[in-house]
Amino acid sequence: MATTIDALPAEADRERDPMRPLPCRVLRTQRETRNIFTVALSPPFGMDRFAFRPGQFNMLYSPGVGEVPVSISGRPEGGREIVHTIREVGPVTRALGTLRRGDTVALRGPFGTAWPVAGVDGSDMVFVAGGIGLAPLRPALYHVLSHRERFGRITLLFGTRTPADLLFRREIEAWRGRLDVDVEVTVDRGDPEWHGPVGVVTRFVPHAAFDAARTHAFVCGPELMMMFAVRELLRRGVAPGQVHVSLERNMKCAIGLCGHCQMGPLFVCRDGPVFTWDRVQGLLATREI
Ligand SMILES: Cc1cc2nc3c(=O)[nH]c(=O)nc-3n(C[C@H](O)[C@H](O)[C@H](O)COP(=O)(O)OP(=O)(O)OC[C@H]3O[C@@H](n4cnc5c(N)ncnc54)[C@H](O)[C@@H]3O)c2cc1C
Ligand code: FES
Repeated sequence: MATTIDALPAEADRERDPMRPLPCRVLRTQRETRNIFTVALSPPFGMDRFAFRPGQFNMLYSPGVGEVPVSISGRPEGGREIVHTIREVGPVTRALGTLRRGDTVALRGPFGTAWPVAGVDGSDMVFVAGGIGLAPLRPALYHVLSHRERFGRITLLFGTRTPADLLFRREIEAWRGRLDVDVEVTVDRGDPEWHGPVGVVTRFVPHAAFDAARTHAFVCGPELMMMFAVRELLRRGVAPGQVHVSLERNMKCAIGLCGHCQMGPLFVCRDGPVFTWDRVQGLLATREI
């Protein structure tokens, strides 16, 4: 029987030094778009599995270049491979983009809080993703879909810049084909082959089929997109404590020591990255809404 994430220890092997990167083998790599790739790693040498909770992140280390936080984007069950989906934006993410099967890379983790998938049974679930924001949400989607009977309606709203930037295309098509999931995909700018919606992802929220009183919404993407998405969810009547967002800040230690990721009284690495909206709304630039 497959192990469920509910049964896995969330902070596995915490007695090991959280500052020491552990080497892992690259099992496979896959190009998702022009500047986004997925890399699957083995558990660190000497461990046969790697437990994490959806929404948590690892620090990936490229020798001589640096270390960056990256969310885990793979299936939470099993723990035989650790999957990350990464957009190349600078030196470290570009160096990670040159990894090939059989190479070694080092990681620390898993760190941070999780999407509360285990505590929301019976809820309608709304996932709102912008661009690479679908990657940190994917483990939560996997969990909800593999325990479908525990949840009410499931809605995925996904927006990206252009059709060429669409992540996880085959999976999205498979989810779209299911009768028990509502999937809406939009792009900011279409192309001659695109026949779907054009415009921002938040436009779907007012018409999406969910019962606000029993909805938990998970939102991940650029900060401005998240703020607009949250505004629409609150307008529909979803309680701020039932809206969950994942935040990104520059990080160094990832264990709440250095203060690099501080946001008011919160450390994003330790208290987040997943927060309920009521905890962070006053700390984000709400004037922009
Ligand atoms: C908790 C957490 C989870 C993350 N998960 C993912 C993930 O799953 N996949 C992923 O691709 N990235 C993720 N990131 C972002 C990733 O850590 C950064 O893209 C990375 O640190 C950039 O490092 P670099 O050396 O390649 O580029 P840098 O030299 O650090 O940055 C290059 C350029 O990109 C810009 N930049 C840096 N970070 C970001 C960002 N987050 N968003 C937009 N622009 C940015 C910088 O301002 C700069 O202009 C996550 C960040 C955090 C804090
Ligand atoms: S990265 Fe050091 S406190 Fe968060």
